[in-house]
Amino acid sequence: MTKTTATAHTNIALIKYWGKKDAQLNLPTTSSLSLTLDEFYTTTTVENSNIDQLIINGQMADPTRVHHFLDALRAELGDFSPLLISSQNYVPTAAGLASSASAFAALTAATTRHLGLDLPLTTLSRLARRGSGSATRSLFGGFALWQAGTNDQTSYANALPTPNIPISLLVVEISGLQKKISSSEGMLRAMTSPNYEQWVHDANWQITAMQAALQASDLTRVGQLAEDNALAMHALNLSAKDRRFTYFTPQTIQVLDLVKKLRQACLIAYATLDAGPNVKIITHSDQAAYIQAQLHQELPKLRVTIAHPGPGVSYEQ
Ligand code: DP6
Repeated sequence: MTKTTATAHTNIALIKYWGKKDAQLNLPTTSSLSLTLDEFYTTTTVENSNIDQLIINGQMADPTRVHHFLDALRAELGDFSPLLISSQNYVPTAAGLASSASAFAALTAATTRHLGLDLPLTTLSRLARRGSGSATRSLFGGFALWQAGTNDQTSYANALPTPNIPISLLVVEISGLQKKISSSEGMLRAMTSPNYEQWVHDANWQITAMQAALQASDLTRVGQLAEDNALAMHALNLSAKDRRFTYFTPQTIQVLDLVKKLRQACLIAYATLDAGPNVKIITHSDQAAYIQAQLHQELPKLRVTIAHPGPGVSYEQ
C-alpha cells in the first residue's frame, strides 16, 4: 500500500492573525506575517484506509476537526478514499506552540501529493487555511505573509523574501498551563472588545512597517513592532465584553519583565505570545545564548529553546 509523507515546520506570527471575518472558511480580519522555525515540526504520513482515522504520536486521536478538513478537501479536489493519517509532532507538548499550523500544512501537502497532485505552494496554503488559519504560513520557509484576501480564492500566504537576517527566537516554556481556550474561541471573544477596530487599524499599518523593517534588517524595529502587536492582541482578550480572559500566568509576566530588563541592558530582546502563556523572545543570533543563560539564572525551572528560521514543506517517498 503506498504511503505519502510530508513535513511542515511551525511558525510564529510577528504580526498576528486574531479574528475571523468568516469562521467557516477561516478568512481573517487582517493580514499576518510570520517566521517559520527550524526546531519544531510535524511529520505526517497518509495511506488509503476503509475509514478516515487519525493517529497522533502513536495514539488514536479525535478525528472530528480532521474530518471537517477532509470534507473541505473532497469538496474542492473531488472525492477520494478514506485515509489513515499518522502524525508525529516534534513540538514540546508544554510549549503551547501552534502545532495546528505545522499539522494542517503537513496534512495538506501529504494528502494532495498522495492523490498525485503537484499543486503550487500558494494553492496548498489556501487549502491548509481550511484546517487552521496559521497553517497557511507553514508551507513556506523563512518569513511568510498571509494576505487576508476577501474570499476563499484570495486568502493565502506567500513566501516573503528578505535579506539574510541574523534573527533567533527563544521559546520559553512556562509550566503549569492553565486550561486552554482555543484560538478560535479566543478570537470570538476578543472581537467583542471595544478596542477591536483599533487593533485592525493598527495591524494594517504594522504589516507594512514590518516588511520595511525586515527589508532593512532592522531587528530592533522588527522586535518593537512584534511586541506592540502581540501585547495589543492580548489586551483585546482582557478587554473583551463577552467572557474576557487572559492566557498570561504570573510566570508570563515574570518573563516579560525580564525581557524589559534585558533591553535596559542594551540587548535586543522583544516578546511575542500566542494562544497560551509561553513567551517567545526575538533577538539577534549573537545574543541568543547570553539571553538563554540570563533566563536560566533568573528562572531556572523554565525550559528555553533557541530556534532559527526554518525550511518550507518537504516530502519523503
Ligand atoms: C495567536 O491558526 O490556531 O497563534 O484558524 O482557529 O485554527 P484557527 O486559529 P489558529 O490561530 C493562531 C493564532 C495565533 C496568531 C497567529 O499565529 O497568527
